[in-house]
Amino acid sequence: MDPTLLLLRWAHVLAAAVAVGGLVFARFGLLPAIAEFDEETRERIHDRIRRRWLPWVIGSITLLLASGLANFLLFNARVKAEGWAGGEWMRATSYHSLFGAKFLLALVVFYFASALVGRGAGTQWVRKDRATWLSLTLGLAVAVVMISGWMRQLHTGPNLTAAGDGGVLIERTNAPEGRRDGGGDTDGQERQEADRGAAAEDREAPTAAGGGEEAAR
Ligand code: HEM
Repeated sequence: MDPTLLLLRWAHVLAAAVAVGGLVFARFGLLPAIAEFDEETRERIHDRIRRRWLPWVIGSITLLLASGLANFLLFNARVKAEGWAGGEWMRATSYHSLFGAKFLLALVVFYFASALVGRGAGTQWVRKDRATWLSLTLGLAVAVVMISGWMRQLHTGPNLTAAGDGGVLIERTNAPEGRRDGGGDTDGQERQEADRGAAAEDREAPTAAGGGEEAAR
């Protein structure tokens, strides 16, 4: 298990949880709860919230950008160094297109998330109709999470080879032919070797859907 990758993953997932959780709470908890107050009271509440919430928004955006870019560069370097699918893996899976779409959507999410807690006159139009722009931002954030899951699924599998890497072997008794772990076989080393071979095959020949299990990380 690579500690740097683990740290990056923790940072990215926690920051995403804060950002998306904050949007859900604001849209479905806060806004309906203060809707019955007069406008002046609502604005005072938003002002008090802004002072406390702004550092969380800035912090999560910074963490998402830093950990996301580092993750992307490290993954690219690994795919290149290991020559996945003869150097064709990225193209065959459209990984870069997915990343580009995700990155652009994430920038739009960052813009609205900041504008919603901002004070500048230039972003006042966003705060004039919080419900609409919060809904849109939340929808885009959900799309970002879905694309992220898709990207991850392109190169992760049941983590069988993680056993030699500090993980735990998973017995697959119903896996398709050629992917079983060998009936009652209890030799972890043997299973691990077999799976390593299967994972390597996947990287060699991604399917049309881009499927390729990277069993280790
Ligand atoms: C609204 C902002 C964002 C959200 C909600 C988000 C969410 C996520 C989630 C849930 C994952 C999967 C994590 C895992 O399973 O370990 C992920 C992975 C990732 N994210 Fe983000 N992310 C955001 C912004 C960004 C940005 C700005 C970048 C790049 C600069 C980025 C780059 C990545 C990369 C490279 C991965 C790994 C994908 C893979 O496994 O192949 N993310 N993100």
